[in-house]
Amino acid sequence: MFEKEFFSPESAQLYHDLLRRTLAVVQSAWPAGPYSGCSAQELRRQLSDDLLPAEGLPLDEVLARLRPLVEHSIALSHPYTIAHLHSPPLLASLAAEAVLSTLNQSMDSFDQAPAATVLELQLGEWLCREAGYAGEAGAVFTSGATQSNFMGLLLARDSALATRFNCDARREGLPPEARRLRFLCSEVAHFTVEKSAYQLGLGSEAVIKVPVDAGFRMLPGALRDKLEELRQQALVPAAIVATAGTTDFGSIDPLAEIAALARGDASWLHVDAAYGSALLLSRSHRHLLRGLELADSISMDFHKGFWQAISCGAFLLRDATRFQHLELHADYLNPVAHAASGIPNLVDRSLATTRRFDALKLWFSFQLLGRENLGAMLDHTLQLAGFAAEWIERHPPLQLLHPPETGCVVFRYRSEKADSNRLNAALRQHLFDRGLAVLGHTVVRGQQCLKLTCLNPTVTQAALTALLETVVAQGRELEAGD
Ligand SMILES: Cc1ncc(COP(=O)(O)O)c(C=O)c1O
Repeated sequence: MFEKEFFSPESAQLYHDLLRRTLAVVQSAWPAGPYSGCSAQELRRQLSDDLLPAEGLPLDEVLARLRPLVEHSIALSHPYTIAHLHSPPLLASLAAEAVLSTLNQSMDSFDQAPAATVLELQLGEWLCREAGYAGEAGAVFTSGATQSNFMGLLLARDSALATRFNCDARREGLPPEARRLRFLCSEVAHFTVEKSAYQLGLGSEAVIKVPVDAGFRMLPGALRDKLEELRQQALVPAAIVATAGTTDFGSIDPLAEIAALARGDASWLHVDAAYGSALLLSRSHRHLLRGLELADSISMDFHKGFWQAISCGAFLLRDATRFQHLELHADYLNPVAHAASGIPNLVDRSLATTRRFDALKLWFSFQLLGRENLGAMLDHTLQLAGFAAEWIERHPPLQLLHPPETGCVVFRYRSEKADSNRLNAALRQHLFDRGLAVLGHTVVRGQQCLKLTCLNPTVTQAALTALLETVVAQGRELEAGD
């Protein structure tokens, strides 16, 4: 009686029809601009709050209710949507998303995901080789770099407690000495370092921020000084987090120099390559990842520079035996006997139990597009950032804050007449509210700034020029009315 509600070869035609009609609505309701400009209050009014009708509604009616959800979404394909490390997904990824949801394998145990487990393991091994790791490395897919960074810092914390204080934190919990642990990262590292520190029971004050150079890269000399200060205070540098591709500036910390300092101090080196891992595809910029192979662990995101549908990330470990620290056996899922008989089990590597087969999207995209295409796409986004930076430099009142190392460009509208901080905040909001552009924003040394994150390889220099001209024109208008 319920067969037509579930996928099977017999119901596949119904699924095709449902997808075809639903996608037709997505196509016709797709926003013409980057955003409709609708406010949260207005959306509350417009969206139906009949969330669970007593009886199912006719498809036409449901599709009519779907329409405003599409119309008031951010159009990631639009060239003026350029705020975040949030990319338009490849068609290949979308098709694979449908497949992996249809298969609905759960990556915790082999008996829930046999082929999927093997593919994820193979792809993980490939990622490790690309990162420069040797044969003993291993990886697991994650929901993103928030989870991957947390995993790196969890292992770093437990490794420091084990080696320095002979404490098995997994069994005993945190000893009083845990108060002496510190994580070091640059002052522009992602906020998930602090978030992890407090979630790991160390408190966000356990994070020491290291100054950066004019290109927003961690200063190795300053790191050395901080490590020396910690030594003098009998504090323990449990982890150093280097960033390969900072969120605001796309800057890459000097990985090899930082690795040498981490080794000298027996600290865990975690590299947050959430964005920068995409440079593995690049012909022109791959060399910036030199030293990545020296990290103990690495975060990579594929829903950023690899254009995968959210969510799709990975956590890599130089020594896969360290995954043991995350392991716990449940008789129903991953009994010890399975490991002994060679049955692979990815739940042993993961914070999550039920987990999506996201590796399929990356694999399918790799198969369909190939390395050359993907590399050319990434290099195009990097060239766009260089182009935007040059344009900004040639067009006062815009002011560039840094030469872009990868795809992010931070700049501001500098006003002689108005308060520039207020003006830049107002300008970004004005562009968003009018549905003219979705720009990023950040604060650099007290200055409110605007940000372009070049991730969409379909954007042209002409479109970027038109966007920047709009920014200048709207800035002038706001300035005049200030
Ligand atoms: C450098 C960096 N690390 C970590 C994250 C968090 O990643 P996710 O949103 O995939 O959890 C981000 C997000 O933009 C990031 O830019």
